[in-house]
Amino acid sequence: MTGIVLEGEDLDVYRIQGGEKLRGSVRIEGSKNAVLPILAACIINGGRNVLYNYPDLRDVSVMLNILEVIGCKVEKMDDMLVVDTTEILTSEIPDKLVREMRSSVVIIGAMLTRMKKTILSYPGGCEIGTRPIDLHVKGLRALGAKISEVGGYLLCEAENLVGTEIGLDFPSVGATENIMLAAVGAQGTTIIRNAAREPEVVDLQNFLNSIGCRITGAGTNIIRVYGVKKFKPTEYRIMPDRIVAGTYLAMAAATGGNIEITEVIPEHFSALLFKLKEAGCKLKIEKTKIEIESPKRLFSVDTIKTLPYPAFPTDLQAPMLALMSIASGTSIIVENIFENRFKHVNDLIKMGAKITIEGRTAIIKGVKKLYGAQVEAKDLRGGAALVLAGLVAEGETIIDGIHHIERGYEALHIKLELLGAKINKTIELGEKE
Ligand code: UD1
Repeated sequence: MTGIVLEGEDLDVYRIQGGEKLRGSVRIEGSKNAVLPILAACIINGGRNVLYNYPDLRDVSVMLNILEVIGCKVEKMDDMLVVDTTEILTSEIPDKLVREMRSSVVIIGAMLTRMKKTILSYPGGCEIGTRPIDLHVKGLRALGAKISEVGGYLLCEAENLVGTEIGLDFPSVGATENIMLAAVGAQGTTIIRNAAREPEVVDLQNFLNSIGCRITGAGTNIIRVYGVKKFKPTEYRIMPDRIVAGTYLAMAAATGGNIEITEVIPEHFSALLFKLKEAGCKLKIEKTKIEIESPKRLFSVDTIKTLPYPAFPTDLQAPMLALMSIASGTSIIVENIFENRFKHVNDLIKMGAKITIEGRTAIIKGVKKLYGAQVEAKDLRGGAALVLAGLVAEGETIIDGIHHIERGYEALHIKLELLGAKINKTIELGEKE
């Protein structure tokens, strides 16, 4: 899975002259992982929904494309998005768009509630591992959906969904969301046990309740969905992106900088905040903003293990690994969620980092300096880690494959430039943007 690459855009690169300390203030955009299932959820009420604080990202464009292709109307105005789902003309989701973005699979739950059926291509493999959807399918089937795989397509039908008790084998974020989306219109009550506790699941619950659903428990591991028959349109503000927030803090820490991030919910990424403090950063944490002041040299930290929320998030593993590559001492990071999330490591080694990988474990011996190099972003968060490394490296770093990074960070190079970084986006031939 690669994210949409528009013609010519795959030639874009970031050029970074490392060594500038980040300074200033940056407002954090709305959460990608919250807005994607919420956009799918808009299908349910068949009305005009207004979403505020949406991030203008590639992945969001893919989901909006899906909505438009099936008949919805979408309007963008500044950070406001109007999604009118009054008309749905087809229950077939186009192949290309599903393949672009695996997380579009949450559309199944919403389509089953609204249309009672949907057909979509089986979301293929992805750059960070196989990412199966067995838990989604098992949960939807428990509610009474008939799901079959025919020639690479998933045929999903559900005339009458009936609430039931579902125990997830793993607290999958996507499966929890998909089941919630299908259960809101089911007859009776659905109880999801071992549900994902991520803040994005809470945001989905809050959005769904604002359209007339009755859900309790998101944020804990037991979610109760009481089926309802009627839905209404809504206005809703998307929560801030905790992964983007954490990435900027890590970037500031790497450069020995001093920045403020605003419009954030600090408790959403406290696992990272603890590690940044352990590494020697000073944090001033307020209700919706954080100021970070980083030491001349960071310390290594005790073993980081990525695990479901509220533990250390897999999405911040790559930036943290890059950060630890310049700390004094040795750090260990264990990636427990996705098996293939160390793709950025070879490029970090090319830049002078000392990292060895043994299975799911990275052993990072901090070095004093990284050196600029030509590298390639192979996935979203790994790409952000390379930007972090480029910001601190001596000399020029050229990062290819930045369409991966742009799936999840809104105007990253512009925001970093405003914080004092020497970064620009050019096409590979060296022409300015
Ligand atoms: C979401 C996030 C992603 C984040 C991940 C974990 C979105 C759009 N993406 O992805 O950024 O890294 O949560 O916090 O919200 N699994 C199965 N079977 C399934 C579903 C998942 O085995 O049916 C496994 C996955 O392979 C993975 C683990 O469960 O090993 C976690 O996946 P999941 O929580 O579902 O992640 P996503 O919802 O795909």
